[in-house]
Order: sequence, then C-alpha cells, then structure tokens
Amino acid sequence: MIKFLDLQAVNAAYAAEIEEAVLRVARSGWYLRGAETERFEAAYAQYVGTKYAVACGNGLDALRLIFRAYMEMGLLHEGDEVIVPANTYIASILSVTYNGLKPVFVEPDSGTLQIDDALIEQAITPRTRAILLVHLYGRCSYTERVGELCQKYDLLLVEDNAQAHGCAFQWADEASDEAGENNCPLSIVPCQLKKTGSLGHAAGHSFYPGKNLGALGDAGCVTTDDAELAAIVRALGNYGSQQKYVFRYAGYNSRMDELHAAVLLAKLPHLEAENRHRASIAEMYYSGIDNPLVKLPTRMPEACNVNHIFPVFCEERDRLQQHLREWGVETLIHYPIPPHHQECYKEYAELSLPITERIHNTELSLPIGPTITEAETMRVIEAINTFE
Ligand SMILES: Cc1ncc(COP(=O)(O)O)c(C=O)c1O
Repeated sequence: MIKFLDLQAVNAAYAAEIEEAVLRVARSGWYLRGAETERFEAAYAQYVGTKYAVACGNGLDALRLIFRAYMEMGLLHEGDEVIVPANTYIASILSVTYNGLKPVFVEPDSGTLQIDDALIEQAITPRTRAILLVHLYGRCSYTERVGELCQKYDLLLVEDNAQAHGCAFQWADEASDEAGENNCPLSIVPCQLKKTGSLGHAAGHSFYPGKNLGALGDAGCVTTDDAELAAIVRALGNYGSQQKYVFRYAGYNSRMDELHAAVLLAKLPHLEAENRHRASIAEMYYSGIDNPLVKLPTRMPEACNVNHIFPVFCEERDRLQQHLREWGVETLIHYPIPPHHQECYKEYAELSLPITERIHNTELSLPIGPTITEAETMRVIEAINTFE
C-alpha cells in the first residue's frame, strides 16, 4: 500500500537526532517553559523572519490566543467581523467564533483554492476589523491586493500557517526591489520573498505530527513582530500570568512541552529539503497526470507552495478513491464537509457558497510527503491515468 503519509518513515529519517532530543529532555528534569522551548522559539522566529515566536499547545490555540490577545489590547471587540476563507479546516473558524467574533465567509478562487481577493472588498462592512488568511494545502494565499485592503480599511491581518511551514510570498515587481523601494505593503524592509507567517500582523502555526514540520504530538506557536501581542499571547497561554501567581488575564493552559520543542529543533533544519522533495513529487504529478476526469489545481511558483496536500478534483471522487484503493494507493479528503455545513455552525447553513461546496464535494488528496519515492509516485500517476 502506498500510504498517504508515512509518519513512521518521516521520523525514522532523523531517528538518532530525535531520540537524542527525547532522551536529553527526559533526563533534564525540566519539562515545560525551559531552554528547549526558548531555543526553538528563537530558531523558528529567525526562520520565519519575525521578531517573536511564542510556543503554545497547538495550532488552534495559536490562532485563538491571537484573537483573544487583540481583544485584550482593545483592537477587537465581541461581535466584530473577521473575513475568513469559506473553504478551510474548521479550526480556522473556531478560533474566530471562540472569541465571540463573527466570521464572514468569502469564496475561494477555484484554481488556486485560496480566498478570492477580488471578493474581499465587497464583504467588508463598518464592523470588519480583521482578515484571517489560511494558506490552505501549503499554498500562499497572501496577495498584494490583500495587503492593500488591510491598509485601506485599517484591518488586522492574521495568518493561519498551520499547513504552510516554509512557504513564501513572492513579489512580482522585481524592478522596484532592485531600485531599493519597499513594495511590501505590511513589511518594513524591501523584499522579494517573504515567508508566510511574517506577512501579516500575527500568525498561528500548528506542529501537529502530520504537518510539514511535525512534532510527536500536539504543538503550535504564534509569530509576530508586535512585542505587546507576543507578551499577551505568552501570558494567556500560561493562565494569564506574566508574573508568578499574579494573573492579569483569565487565561488558558496552552504551552509547548519541552519534548516537542526539542524534537522540532531537531527537525527544523531538514524542513527546506523536505519541502523540495514535496515540490519534486508535485512536479511529477503535474507533468504525469493526464486524465480528463481528473483536474489539477493551478500551478504556483515553487517558493509559494510547500505542497502540504496535493489536491485533485473529480466529479466522481468516491469512485476515483475506490479505484486508487484497488491500485494500492491511499488517499484522503480535505475536507468532506465545509465549515458552514457543520452541525456546530447551523447559523451559517443557509449561506450560498457554491465554489466552496464544489471543492469539498470533488476534492481528493494524493500521497505526498518527504519519504514518498519516485517509483511510488509513478504508480499513483499510472493508477490515476487508468481511471475511466
Ligand atoms: C488550516 C488549519 N488551521 C488550524 C489547524 C489547527 O491546528 P492543530 O491541529 O494543531 O490545533 C489545522 C490543523 O489541524 C489546520 O489544518
């Protein structure tokens, strides 16, 4: 069976480093908020290109701590509207509704699968205070237009970078960069490539085991250049405390275990090579899949897509999945039910979001990851091309 993602093989590739990290923590006698977390935060902030990284319990917490912190700062208030992509994993939306904020769903572009930036402005109302971008499937969803809208309407830009570690936005206008002009709407330095997680005001990252950078359990973090936000997020994840036994906020318990920080530190240096491998597999799919019944998403520049998921689309998705199973190929669906059709969001059930619904009804995710081989990929391609 060609697995969708062979996590055992993914971590076996670094067995010695991971085992050394686990033993180091086990023997240290210090398991939370220690040197490993501090080192990981410094390394990850440097990698993403932000001043701060604040480790927390998981990716959902990272996002909800960001929104809660903005409420504590008086920048968001209950009932404020947050523009969100309609096609995303439910955690993105939960982080908004947990905080009494109102998600305003915007349809995606059916090619890039990311929020359609041409539809955002018409969704903005006097109550809109923020945009939540989700770099879904590992594809950068930031555009210059999104940056301009944030400036024009004075909106906070929050990124959900759960699926896109190592991804970047690429500015098209090279000439102005060469001239030393800053054409990055929300940044302070001239740049051509800027990592997702550093494009807005704050970003939430998940290190769930199956992510491009995965821990051995739940873990997450917030990246930002904003010192005040970072300090409040850190306090909120520690019951609301900045000073021992003094509680400024009614917070949560959301911290990263030292164990996960040590494992992530061991794996971070390998992320770029793993993403390159994913890109080479995606390239094989793009050039090899040739079946009129199976549609592929828009190709993006390599820097802008870390291929967390390789989605294809088929009107007869379930029959395609069965066909691939018979060929020994494991696939998954990301995701079978869109957030607005989930039982927990009955109030949004009547929304008409046909592009989102179509994506969720036809999507199938092919095997992709740092350990899948060329031969296995060829087999997946052959299986797809024989589907009729
Ligand atoms: C887009 C997206 N946002 C948020 C999350 C939440 O991350 P976690 O599972 O670490 O809570 C996930 C992952 O599961 C995700 O895919």
